[in-house]
Amino acid sequence: MSKSKPKHILVLNGPNLNLLGTREPDVYGHETLNDIVNNLTPIAAAKGYAVEHFQSNSEGALIDKIHEAAQIFDGLIFNPGAYSHSSIALRDAITATDMPTIEVHLSNIHAREDFRHKSYISAVALGVICGLGSKGYEYALEGLISHLMQKHQEED
Ligand code: DQA
Repeated sequence: MSKSKPKHILVLNGPNLNLLGTREPDVYGHETLNDIVNNLTPIAAAKGYAVEHFQSNSEGALIDKIHEAAQIFDGLIFNPGAYSHSSIALRDAITATDMPTIEVHLSNIHAREDFRHKSYISAVALGVICGLGSKGYEYALEGLISHLMQKHQEED
């Protein structure tokens, strides 16, 4: 099926990220999820891309959103939260839909508890950014847009 909105990026956030701003601010910073997403909108717009955001605490809802997104969006910026470390189903959703995905973590998961070192998503992501706080979303957006622009140029 052809994509109806070819210049659209989905920012997807998993469990507990709705609590950003008040959740362990020493680890995750003081910005809310709305602050982070609002900051991305003009950066994407300057390059001709629109950003949509979806957050859920439920694995199934995130999977459904990835399936849906594959029909509409060009790429995905994804912070799967704790599901990074447990969800083969989310990894399979990315593989199944072939969505160019950049994985983001606010904290440096490799410098934290052992159980956070492994992300099931990383191997199927285009790239991974972690440990750079909310700026990581911005870098992910720039990286994803540059990848998509190159892809579109090659297709033309
Ligand atoms: C996180 C890191 C995960 O280990 C944790 O479960 C989160 C947030 C991050 O952005 O640093 O919920 O994905």
